[in-house]
Amino acid sequence: MSAVLELRKVSIRFENIQALDSVDFDLLEGETHAIVGENGAGKSTMMRILAGVYTGYEGEYFLDGQPVHLQSPRDALSLGIGMIHQELSVIPELSVAENLFLGRQPLTPYGMIDWRLMNRTAQEELSKLGFADIDVKRPLGTYALGTQQVVEVLRVILSGAKVLIMDEPTSALSPPEVERLIQLIDTLRKAKRSIIYISHFLEEVMRVADRVTVLRDGHKVATVNQTDTSVNELISLILGREINAELPAATTQKDAHVLLEVRDLTADVFRNVNLNVYQGEVVGLYGAIGSGHFDLARAVFGMYRFDSGAVVVDGQTYPRDFSARYAIQHGLAYASESRRMSLFMEEPIFRNVMVPHLERLGRWLSPTRSTELDLSTPQIKLTGVHPDDPVNPVGQLSGGNQQKVAIARWLPFPPKVFIMAEPTRGMDVGAKSEVLTILRNFRNEGYGVLVVSSEPETVLSVADRIMVMSRGQVVADMENVNLNKDVLMRLL
Ligand SMILES: Nc1ncnc2c1ncn2[C@@H]1O[C@H](COP(=O)(O)OP(=O)(O)OP(=O)(O)O)[C@@H](O)[C@H]1O
Ligand SMILES: [Mg+2]
Repeated sequence: MSAVLELRKVSIRFENIQALDSVDFDLLEGETHAIVGENGAGKSTMMRILAGVYTGYEGEYFLDGQPVHLQSPRDALSLGIGMIHQELSVIPELSVAENLFLGRQPLTPYGMIDWRLMNRTAQEELSKLGFADIDVKRPLGTYALGTQQVVEVLRVILSGAKVLIMDEPTSALSPPEVERLIQLIDTLRKAKRSIIYISHFLEEVMRVADRVTVLRDGHKVATVNQTDTSVNELISLILGREINAELPAATTQKDAHVLLEVRDLTADVFRNVNLNVYQGEVVGLYGAIGSGHFDLARAVFGMYRFDSGAVVVDGQTYPRDFSARYAIQHGLAYASESRRMSLFMEEPIFRNVMVPHLERLGRWLSPTRSTELDLSTPQIKLTGVHPDDPVNPVGQLSGGNQQKVAIARWLPFPPKVFIMAEPTRGMDVGAKSEVLTILRNFRNEGYGVLVVSSEPETVLSVADRIMVMSRGQVVADMENVNLNKDVLMRLL
């Protein structure tokens, strides 16, 4: 088989970081090639070179054996290279068909959009790929995220891409949606498309990939055939060491002291939610995307309006219509599932860590830069943010390292209860276990932790007790013993 695309000795530097160092890579026709590696290993950077986003690199890039130097993503697409970014770029108000043909709508002889032709072609293309159930006339925004993702992939293919680059396509999808995407990848592979697939979910990688390339610190460590490797081997290759998979066990008996009490909380998207977090306990709140669990977490923190019910923290009932500011001052911390919502990308890391605490440090005088640095630097190191220079802007960190900043920011003045939505989203295997260890240690120090997640693995590995939310209601509350993914997903 011939390589449709090849990189030889490609290197790129950002100021003081060698993001890629003399990397070789090739992609064969009809293969799905996964790229794995720790946060900051250089995966997205390599994809951005392939897709014409970064042009200032050294080394050679070949397409079908011919040397190229792409100047822009448009350039890349015209040569058949399409990239699907993690943030969807679909337009929810437009119909499925319009999204599929965005900018390339078929026209009638009179120069008008040929709706009938467009809808019919769209429906045919979807049916061919096994998605006959999607109604192409419906606004895309009325479909689940997974379907929107599928439409985005199809759009890139319909615009002529032979090579498809997917950077963490499943990190915001629910398990059935992931299945759908994997099914689509199988169909595309049979149609001889070549796919590059970046993911931190190694089980998923083993299912979709023909070959796997491992990057570490900007170097290529290995390229292995799927049939010759295993999840465990991939973990060792990724980290260059074994990880300690054991999370800290509970050192204290959970006592009867309730730190967080949510009483009969009702809003538009959830009803009568009752939930307790005891001192020294990690509670996992699991639900499918859209089940209301993320909005519930926001409501408890004063960021989502609720109609009735109450939030009680350490025995103190919060007033009606309390604000997030009030919640911070009265014992709660919250990290959103969406990094983009909570971080200031242009601002340095230390400032992002200090933002929630500025008021606490001085009502009239803002704290000096050196005070801010003193208070935040240890927390930045503790959470393993890499690179850890506190003055770097957050926007320059890799995805997983931005997530660590979102956690580090609560450590200078720990609350009574941490509410963390998707604490490990986008993190590599090593970072995941580091962050879950941090949460378990909070518990052992007597805090309460509420982990809100749509990843069954996350709640199963970290929680002492798991509650399941489905369609806005709590449907189960179980000690986390002898539970597994199957049990949880059946409850959705
Ligand atoms: N535009 C930029 N300016 C400065 N540094 C950058 C820039 N883009 C990436 N980097 C740095 O290059 C390194 C590689 O980043 P990259 O985003 O490729 O990592 P990644 O493997 O995709 O990680 P993740 O799994 O967290 O998404 C990181 O150290 C990152 O901080
Ligand atoms: Mg990345």
